[in-house]
Amino acid sequence: MAYNLLKGKTGIIFGALNENSIAWKVAELAHNEGAKIVLTNTPVAMRMGSVNELARKCNALLVPADATSVEDLENLINKSIEHFGEKIDFILHSIGMSFNVRKGKTYDDLDYDYFQKTLDVSAISFHKLLQVAWKTDAIKPWGSIVALSYIAAQRTLYGYNDMADAKALLESIARSFGYIYGRERKVRINTISQSPTLTTAGSGVMGFEGLMDFTDRMSPLGNANAYECAQYCITLFSDLTRKVTMQNLYHDGGFSSMGMSNKAMAVYNMNLEECRDCQ
Ligand SMILES: NC(=O)c1ccc[n+]([C@@H]2O[C@H](COP(=O)([O-])OP(=O)(O)OC[C@H]3O[C@@H](n4cnc5c(N)ncnc54)[C@H](O)[C@@H]3O)[C@@H](O)[C@H]2O)c1
Repeated sequence: MAYNLLKGKTGIIFGALNENSIAWKVAELAHNEGAKIVLTNTPVAMRMGSVNELARKCNALLVPADATSVEDLENLINKSIEHFGEKIDFILHSIGMSFNVRKGKTYDDLDYDYFQKTLDVSAISFHKLLQVAWKTDAIKPWGSIVALSYIAAQRTLYGYNDMADAKALLESIARSFGYIYGRERKVRINTISQSPTLTTAGSGVMGFEGLMDFTDRMSPLGNANAYECAQYCITLFSDLTRKVTMQNLYHDGGFSSMGMSNKAMAVYNMNLEECRDCQ
């Protein structure tokens, strides 16, 4: 069921790789809610993934961009405004990647070139995007920009590695630029801290299946899936949330407020004897 929440709005969506991607669901919903959209991803991801199919479905323009390249971002913003014939109402930054995680480097044995890349791709790209949009005055007043984050920014979660540092930086950038953008241009900037979700990026995290089971047991409403995350994104792009800015908004079924639940305790007690000496 559509509510026409984005009727007449224009938006750029980063990060749709395949139909499991959170950005994929956001694109489908934004289209259903009446938005005109531009889809973007790296040239490699565009070749490997199925974003062409999504573009056809959503009647979207595809513009390749490596989000770490200011030049690519300038081209993306210019092409989008030219395509829409007007400025932009909303942007989704749905990008994350760690070479250390990919190569199995643990947090006490990080490769620093990879670490820099993690920060650049997963966090500094958000600043680059905001700065390009700011300098080109690309966003309409009361526009909305959202990036996707994870609770490892606040809490230590085994196996999340240097992505935790990237998410902490990402959330900080949202606050710092959110102040400037809100004050000067009435544009809001928020991060959504999403439950673990079965996607290409998600399944790269060590012990992901166990993590998903744990958070589901801990969350009174259960894990939030990609479609539900997309629904939340749409509300933040809509005019119904115009005074929400500089926030990290948990979309996690209540996980972030929990300490222990009966469902998690049941599993813990079952394995207590077996795991007495686990580190
Ligand atoms: N899946 C989860 O468990 C989970 C939980 C919380 C937050 N998130 C966040 O959600 C966002 C989307 O991830 P997802 O789970 O949908 O996985 P995904 O793998 O489908 O999406 C990640 C995207 O980032 C893109 N990307 C990587 N490097 C890029 C670059 N240099 N320039 C432009 N794009 C680039 C990839 O091509 C891909 O489309 C990420 O920020 C991720 O950290 C995911």
